[in-house]
Amino acid sequence: MKFEIREFYGSVELPVIVKLRYEVLRKPLGLSLEQSQFAGDELSTTVHIVGHVENTMAACLTILLSEVNLTKEPQIGQLRGMAVADGYRGLGLGTRLLEAAHDWARQKGVSLWCNARSQAVGFYSKQGWEVSGPEFEVVSVGPHFPMVWKPNTKR
Ligand SMILES: CC(C)(COP(=O)(O)OP(=O)(O)OC[C@H]1O[C@@H](n2cnc3c(N)ncnc32)[C@H](O)[C@@H]1OP(=O)(O)O)[C@@H](O)C(=O)NCCC(=O)NCCS
Repeated sequence: MKFEIREFYGSVELPVIVKLRYEVLRKPLGLSLEQSQFAGDELSTTVHIVGHVENTMAACLTILLSEVNLTKEPQIGQLRGMAVADGYRGLGLGTRLLEAAHDWARQKGVSLWCNARSQAVGFYSKQGWEVSGPEFEVVSVGPHFPMVWKPNTKR
């Protein structure tokens, strides 16, 4: 399957990403399209990485950087909205997209964190992520674990 990875900042293609997040992550829980938008989606520091199969956006993720780093501490970004469309899962697309996120983060020297759905912890663990705290409940979504990934991780 030919899978083309694209990376962009700001609002280009944002409506398509929000729709994909909605279909995969929000609609099954009875949540709305509006609840599929993230604060910071349109910031120039936010990177969206998407994967297209032919002309269909089949996978997406977003990295939101924390506030401008005035302390010279290493930056950390939040990975959000990791979604592979129904019909395209289990084909390695999620892995390819996460690897692209890791490449981006390594280049910038940025660590990553996310709140992973408990059922997806195995997916992230295979890519070198580590659980960093106890399981907790996100209202209307379900159980999650905080996870982190560091740029010196092999994968
Ligand atoms: C989780 C998700 C992003 C994975 O993407 P994908 O393209 O289906 O995954 P891949 O085909 O790249 O699978 C990579 C490996 O992770 C495993 N894996 C995939 N989903 C998994 C899950 N939910 N739990 C544990 N392992 C998982 C696969 O079995 C595969 O293992 P292998 O390399 O030993 O064969 C995708 O299935 C998805 O969008 N699911 C619904 C939404 C979701 O849960 N998003 C995450 C929110 S935190």
